[in-house]
Amino acid sequence: MKNIPYGRHNVTREDLEAVNEALLSDFLTQGPRAEEFEKAFAEYIGVKYAVSVSNGTAALDLCVKALNTAHGDKFITTPITFVASANCVKFNGGEVFFSDIDRQSYLLDLNKLEDLVKKEPPGSYKAVIPVDFAGYPVNLQELKTLADKYRFSIIEDAAHSPGGAFKDSLNNWQNCGNGNFADLAIFSFHPVKHIATGEGGMITTNNKDLYKRILRLRSHGITKDPDYLIENHGGWYYEMLELSGNSRITDFQAALGTSQLKRAGEGLKKRRAIAEKYNQSLKGIKGLTTPIISADVNHAFHLYIVEVAERKKFYDYLKNNGIFAQIHYIPVHLQPYYKQFGWKKGDFPMAEDYYEHGISLPMYPTLSDEEQDYVIEKIIGFF
Ligand SMILES: Cc1ncc(COP(=O)(O)O)c(C=O)c1O
Repeated sequence: MKNIPYGRHNVTREDLEAVNEALLSDFLTQGPRAEEFEKAFAEYIGVKYAVSVSNGTAALDLCVKALNTAHGDKFITTPITFVASANCVKFNGGEVFFSDIDRQSYLLDLNKLEDLVKKEPPGSYKAVIPVDFAGYPVNLQELKTLADKYRFSIIEDAAHSPGGAFKDSLNNWQNCGNGNFADLAIFSFHPVKHIATGEGGMITTNNKDLYKRILRLRSHGITKDPDYLIENHGGWYYEMLELSGNSRITDFQAALGTSQLKRAGEGLKKRRAIAEKYNQSLKGIKGLTTPIISADVNHAFHLYIVEVAERKKFYDYLKNNGIFAQIHYIPVHLQPYYKQFGWKKGDFPMAEDYYEHGISLPMYPTLSDEEQDYVIEKIIGFF
């Protein structure tokens, strides 16, 4: 059996044709295919506006900028995420706070979050950045209630959850990133994600002003939009209204994104089927915990995470058998960079305890039955 990674992209002949066509066209950097990708993605998610960008990290950075973040502004995120969810605040001079996770869902614990924000007057925190970790959606309706009460914005980090959804209090499904509760959401098209463009990302929102702001933040703070121009000298004319860099995606990456998006629903189905098979095959094993299941959640299964007591031994054993599981994530507050701000072991016991046990098993649409059977057989062998 060849080595089995925890995640893997899938590029088809149709993808290659779409990229080829883009490469031979008049546009290499952002052009009509980027706009096409944005329209198709917005439709898939069910949101008004989408802006494609160079990667998910840039998407987070532009969201933080778009909220007019000033030096010292306070943001809150979860310790169990990729470092980018916190770093976007630091890039912009803000202060990062963390709040502990719920031990079952691994998402921000909203009760603990409220305990934190209510210690300060409303408006003390600029924004909360919840993460739909592993593809399990945050209940943004509940978070929005807190956001209104304590006056903070919401930037949903949906890097793991295109196609995920939660049921709101009226039993309507709310897609991750649909902008009904969060001000802004971001996605990543890194190769292990649901849609892969090499590097790539998307920002979604229902707010027209934020949308227009992000369009110009993506490209040096420059606009040609007559609604925003202070002067207008003619067809060539543009104005730089604020400081920003270049976060554009290329047109051939966007072409790949649109092509991949056509298979996103199919990929999601496959991920859920793989999860179901793991659930059924592993649920009886003493010493192993399978992921939480809820009727109110459509899990996007970017990751399939189990918990085991002897995690390092289990990781090494799988690796020795050609199964390259992964750990998501080392708690961000324990990274050396963040420790310099005073964060330390013991600050977030649930996140730290989860980190001792969680491990992501192979999960990607092209994982074959035979490969998954092999993984399951090896896991059973371990226990
Ligand atoms: C939760 C989360 N947020 C943000 C990012 C950043 O995305 P990118 O790698 O596209 O910059 C990732 C990335 O991999 C992620 O897992």
